Amino acid sequence: MSTKNVLTPYKSNNLDLRNRVVMAPMTRSRAANEGNVATDDLQGLYYEQRASAGLLITEGSQVSAEAVGYINTPGIYTAEQVEGWKKVTKRVHDKNGKIFIQLWHVGRISHPDFHNGALPVSASAINPEAKAFTYTGFKDTVTPKEMTIEDIKRTVKDFQTAGANAIKAGFDGVEIHSSNGYLFQQFFNGCSNTRTDEYGGSIENRARFFFEVLDAMKEVMPEQKIGARFNPSCHGMFGMEVDKETIPTFEYIIKKLNEYDLAYVHLSEPFTDVSEVPFAVTEIAKHFRPLYNGTLIINTAFDKEKGDKVIANGDADLVAYGKPFISNPDLVERFEQGVALTEWDADTFYTAGAKGYTDYPTMK
Ligand SMILES: Cc1cc2nc3c(=O)[nH]c(=O)nc-3n(C[C@H](O)[C@H](O)[C@H](O)COP(=O)(O)O)c2cc1C
Repeated sequence: MSTKNVLTPYKSNNLDLRNRVVMAPMTRSRAANEGNVATDDLQGLYYEQRASAGLLITEGSQVSAEAVGYINTPGIYTAEQVEGWKKVTKRVHDKNGKIFIQLWHVGRISHPDFHNGALPVSASAINPEAKAFTYTGFKDTVTPKEMTIEDIKRTVKDFQTAGANAIKAGFDGVEIHSSNGYLFQQFFNGCSNTRTDEYGGSIENRARFFFEVLDAMKEVMPEQKIGARFNPSCHGMFGMEVDKETIPTFEYIIKKLNEYDLAYVHLSEPFTDVSEVPFAVTEIAKHFRPLYNGTLIINTAFDKEKGDKVIANGDADLVAYGKPFISNPDLVERFEQGVALTEWDADTFYTAGAKGYTDYPTMK
């Protein structure tokens, strides 16, 4: 047990943070309808309000038009989107905050409505049997198109370009969204990847696309500015299932990441109850910490006390808070002063405007 807690500053070769409280990436659907551009008056203010976190990670941000699967979510592939994000990063930096952008491709968690009628893409042509949030409401997902090798190579380039754009926009780094049942996890897991080429079958093959993206990103920014997020026990969400190869796949990926010098690896404890799910791991930080030598962020359902404990035990270096940050812009100050937290309102997670977004009060 160490005496460190979530308020202790954190310094590694790659990160220098004033505390260990990270804001988890959260989609809030407040980007401009026109062009999926980050908005200064809404998104800029929202991130500025939360800049006392050791590190902010933005909501998932699409790397291409093909990567889109939700309404009003920001992108980072057009010049206007880069300009939009510049204003956001400036606001955070003016408050001495640090901010990474989460780079996102939803894969099959999308709908032809977003693609002029074309099918969303994925590792294999398997419908996740989920819902897509479109401009005309929730719609059933469809059977996606299996990505060709050409599609994969183009998507690697899209991530590379988005990474370069992120640096232009002033971000301190990027987080690859390889989590929660989206495109990369659709390649990792056997339930969504039945390919027989070099991107399917063995564990190494299912991880190949992710590592190709990582290697491409390293060409446009120092690897020290790159983080990656995984949800190894993601089950029952967006068509994801844990099978006997799932945890070994993540063990392979996370061990292989020791060959890189990344900013961090960001892991989620399961979002759903997996205590009865065969082959799932219920204690992600404990399971994966011994496998990874770099900075480890852990997330999901932490409060101050649990966060302090996971750090004191040495099971993680940083703790990411999601929903508590939605309703407590001054979460860090509340932790410092032991002040009770405001409850979040789930009804305004994805609605338009300032309500439930930038209007949560700070402490009196
Ligand atoms: C409104 C909302 C939006 C989210 N959007 C994203 C996202 O864009 N990217 C992502 O990796 N996780 C996303 N998540 C998951 C959160 O990052 C986090 O893992 C989850 O809320 C659990 O952490 P918590 O218990 O501290 O809230 C989202 C969660 C919520 C509540």
